[in-house]
Amino acid sequence: MSRAGIDAIEIWTGKLQLDLPRTFAPVKGSDPQKYLKGIGIEYSSLPDVYEDIVTMGANAAKQLLDKKELAPADIGRIDVATESSFDNSKPVSTYIAGCLESVYESNFTHANKGERKFACLSGTQAIDDAYNWIQAGRHRGKPALVIATDTALYERGDPGEATQGAGAIAMLIDEDPDIVSISHSQGYGSADETDFLKPNQQFPSVDGKRSVQVYLARMREALADYESVAGKTHPDAFAAVPFHTPFPGMVRKAALLGYRHTIRNTDIEDELASDIGTQPRRNEFDSNSEFDAEMRTYMDGLKQTEAYQEWYADRIEPTIQFARQVGNWYTGSVHIARYSALHSAATAGDSLSGEQLLVGSYGSGAEAEIHVETVQPNWKSAINSVTFAESLASRYDLSFEEYERIHDVHNAQKETEVEPFTNPDGEFIFTGWGRMNERRYEYRPCQSGNAS
Ligand code: CAA
Repeated sequence: MSRAGIDAIEIWTGKLQLDLPRTFAPVKGSDPQKYLKGIGIEYSSLPDVYEDIVTMGANAAKQLLDKKELAPADIGRIDVATESSFDNSKPVSTYIAGCLESVYESNFTHANKGERKFACLSGTQAIDDAYNWIQAGRHRGKPALVIATDTALYERGDPGEATQGAGAIAMLIDEDPDIVSISHSQGYGSADETDFLKPNQQFPSVDGKRSVQVYLARMREALADYESVAGKTHPDAFAAVPFHTPFPGMVRKAALLGYRHTIRNTDIEDELASDIGTQPRRNEFDSNSEFDAEMRTYMDGLKQTEAYQEWYADRIEPTIQFARQVGNWYTGSVHIARYSALHSAATAGDSLSGEQLLVGSYGSGAEAEIHVETVQPNWKSAINSVTFAESLASRYDLSFEEYERIHDVHNAQKETEVEPFTNPDGEFIFTGWGRMNERRYEYRPCQSGNAS
């Protein structure tokens, strides 16, 4: 079986930002520390008037094609993952392909196109589809373009409003990839749940507290399932553990559970025993409540140990740096977490070639998936070529009143006319609706006139 995985990535952030501790918190009457420390998001990225899931996806994809010197005819399939789709029939990948074809000479006539849905998990599932297509030898030597694009907006006043975000990540999935190869083994944890859903409505119905518990339960099942096929995991076997990151506070909870699970019956559990005892085992207790109470005490102790705190600082903290700056990008979120870890290692000058990542994806409804990725020799130059940090720094900073207006602009139930806050510059923009209610787009060349 050949190596297949992520060869290149590009990221497009919504061009506006909402500052949660300084702009959102005072109006909500909440403590800024709730966002900075508790939820863990400082800024949410939001789309300007002329941006949506198509423009963000097409802009990320164009950057990727240009960087790799690829043309549409070089691509064998385009899979778009989103939970913000506006059409139940025509896939977003056709809109994105149409945008791209308007600026390149060749087209995507022979590329297979689709749209993947399973809440936030579908970005990973689309990579899976591309991986399987390559491994089955059906790709004719061509790579796949996977684009995860979302506008994660909640009803105003919903607790989820603090975890909004908007952006797209385009990934090239290919043989002999430059960034990471993907393991053949996978683990799943899945159940019919109603934690977060959008039954033919734009804004989600969310049971926030329950969604956190469902995430953790499915992730635990996926890890056990992964170990059943790949063998026992050890926390020190991984250079980073990128999780789906609806908000960094969620990852804090998942990481502690993951650490507890992976140290069980290892040297680390033994070393910590003199400090906090060994982990309670369910079969040693007469009742679940006694076991749960004992486990809570163990977890409280574990969280304070130097071993856990060092592991968290090394393997988890680097994965959530960009989530703090952009909020939740739904389908793109776990892929931002992977990028965040690799970007942080590249900036620190670390050598990661040959190291492994344990990647935990999650989609409400609900399913978690776990697999392992191996960092490839060319990872650093591939990561250093992504210009995401610069585009984050140039976002327009919204006042609260501007935020309310832009939220209304993107609310399908409202008709709101607002002037854009930024100028499109060498990018695709949304221009309005056509005669069959299709969304229409055009490319705005660079104002300096020197870009394609
Ligand atoms: N200083 C420090 N920390 C503070 C604080 C302060 N002043 N005030 C509050 N906090 C902490 C809280 O203790 C809490 O942390 P812990 O859970 O570790 O105790 C954290 O900040 C959040 O506070 P609340 O729970 O009170 O916040 P909330 O009730 O307003 O909403 C939420 C939190 C439920 C996550 C809400 O934002 C929400 O519904 N989000 C959308 C759903 C979601 O993201 N779920 C995640 C799992 S589902 C999924 O992953 C799919 C997806 O992408 C949506």
